[in-house]
Amino acid sequence: MHSTPDSSPRDSWGSQAGFILAAVGSAVGLGNMWRFSYVASQGGGAAFVLLYLGLVAVIGIPLMTSEFVVGRLAQVSPVKALPLLGGRKWTPLGWMFVFAGLIILSYYSVIAGWTMRYAWEAVSSGLPKDTVAYFNDAATGLPAIGWHVAFMVITIFIVAGGIRRGIERAAVILMPVMFVILAGLAVYAFFLTGSREGYAFYLNPNLGAVFDPQIIGNAAGQAFFSLSLGMGALITFASYLKGRNNLAKEATIVALADFGVAFMAGLVVFPIVFTFGLQDQIGASGLGALFVSLPAGFASMGAAGKFVGAAFFIMLFFAALTSSISLLEVVVSAIVDSFGAARRAVAITMGTIITIIGVPSALSLDFLGAADALVGNFLLILGGFFTAIFVGYSVLDKADAELAIGLPSESMRKAWAFMVRYVAPPILLGVLYLLIAPTWQAIRTLVGLGN
Ligand code: PFF
Repeated sequence: MHSTPDSSPRDSWGSQAGFILAAVGSAVGLGNMWRFSYVASQGGGAAFVLLYLGLVAVIGIPLMTSEFVVGRLAQVSPVKALPLLGGRKWTPLGWMFVFAGLIILSYYSVIAGWTMRYAWEAVSSGLPKDTVAYFNDAATGLPAIGWHVAFMVITIFIVAGGIRRGIERAAVILMPVMFVILAGLAVYAFFLTGSREGYAFYLNPNLGAVFDPQIIGNAAGQAFFSLSLGMGALITFASYLKGRNNLAKEATIVALADFGVAFMAGLVVFPIVFTFGLQDQIGASGLGALFVSLPAGFASMGAAGKFVGAAFFIMLFFAALTSSISLLEVVVSAIVDSFGAARRAVAITMGTIITIIGVPSALSLDFLGAADALVGNFLLILGGFFTAIFVGYSVLDKADAELAIGLPSESMRKAWAFMVRYVAPPILLGVLYLLIAPTWQAIRTLVGLGN
């Protein structure tokens, strides 16, 4: 569809399945593997997983339904949807979403660049044995910038193609392939000698950890990051829906798929870690956990390692790509819908700006980690808090017809409204409080005051 911005109809999804796959594609990404494995292994193992699952059910699914409802009702980017439904005082929240998208994509693409390089090297020459040195070389500096740029170019290319021909097509092809590779890896991991030990570590709850404030803050941030909540990405996606949608059901499918993938990634990672004795590395290498310990496992596997390593990083690359396109789409749709600019030009311009903003993250792991703590954790929770307030007090009355499709009984809709109005905001406020200290620390790192 060739479009002049003002006269032609807004792009839309080609099918229901296409929308769901694109939303799952947004949710499933580096968050499920890179972030989930190392955060989960840092605090409490299965206790962290339980906490995370509880937050997904109690806050994640109602908020995701909320984002879907807002987008579906307004049919326009959040920067216009929020004032349209709630009045002009909500416009800044829409631009805060855009800011979050800009920053998250800037460092997300750096990590995605690592996955591209690892995939490339695994296929061509095989990953080297000294994975610490290899990661240090790959993570920062010129090579990291180069792969970051390459990843951004692909992201821009897909988003410039539009919703149906760009984002939907990419998700429909990449998500099933990604899922099959992951399932194959989980089966392979099951047959490794250390798989029992790995599962035991992963799935044995240390229930004390559920009360650790740091772990609660991490689990909540991880839930938002992983579900793509709190920055209007799913409002944006739902704004391209046409026709009748069971939004509550679709949100549940997306959340379950996201959790399923994160859980399965753990079933791949922990058997490898325990089979090849990499327990210490995973804790010690922080941000690089996945990129240091797993390749060491692949290197010890002999001939199979080359194949397994390539499969793993290709899968991760696909997962990252279907998420990065949703991050860029938040930024692009805001500008296209606000100023009537042409999508392709906006995608290229904003993509270039984001690529430049990402350079410091490609030069310093501390900077990358701080940007993730500030925006990936704190700002998403803040965005989620305001989204709950916005929907709870400005949109609910207008949303009844929309919700009635998926929540046929009055009492179900009441229960949903109760979660959004009275349960999510206080919990999120509490989490924000817990995150003040680490967020302050992150800000100091970002402005160069210390680490
Ligand atoms: N959900 C993605 C992941 O888990 O990797 C990251 C992400 C995408 C966060 C889109 C936020 C967002 F709006």
